[in-house]
Amino acid sequence: MLAEKYQAEIDQILKKFPPEEKRAAVLPLLYLAQREGGHITQTEVAEIAALLDLDATQVGGLIGFYTLLHDKPEGKIRVQICTDLPCALRGAETFAEELCENLGIKLGETTDDGFVTVEEVMCLAGCDRAPMFQVQEPTGIHYHEHQTLETALEIIEEYRKRESDA
Ligand code: FES
Repeated sequence: MLAEKYQAEIDQILKKFPPEEKRAAVLPLLYLAQREGGHITQTEVAEIAALLDLDATQVGGLIGFYTLLHDKPEGKIRVQICTDLPCALRGAETFAEELCENLGIKLGETTDDGFVTVEEVMCLAGCDRAPMFQVQEPTGIHYHEHQTLETALEIIEEYRKRESDA
């Protein structure tokens, strides 16, 4: 239960919004729920909905809408490549396919060791710097622009090394 683990943080988040607008706390609460395990469970969705007097469907719908929120466990890091049209015109789709091929997966899949999930996402506001991706990992989100297959594989290896050193 979120309340058992994070009551102080939940209180802090709720304090930022007037009681009649507490539904505005939904995204920070979802992000809090996801922080530790990398995804949000149905139980957590129900808990957040009850806390904010919302319907669980409304809360769950947000997870499907935002690419930074997830409802199932995947890799420790998520490589999210923009393949929207401007990036596709700069080779993002080929880049994504080659990266996945090198990792032994298909787009949307996770490597056998459970470390990397590669996903396609829509515009990340780096259209003139494609191929580009963001890495979502437990400590935050990091942008990597002007990528090649080689630089991307190096970056993933750095994350992997950091994880094994931790
Ligand atoms: S279209 Fe890819 S970052 Fe904008």
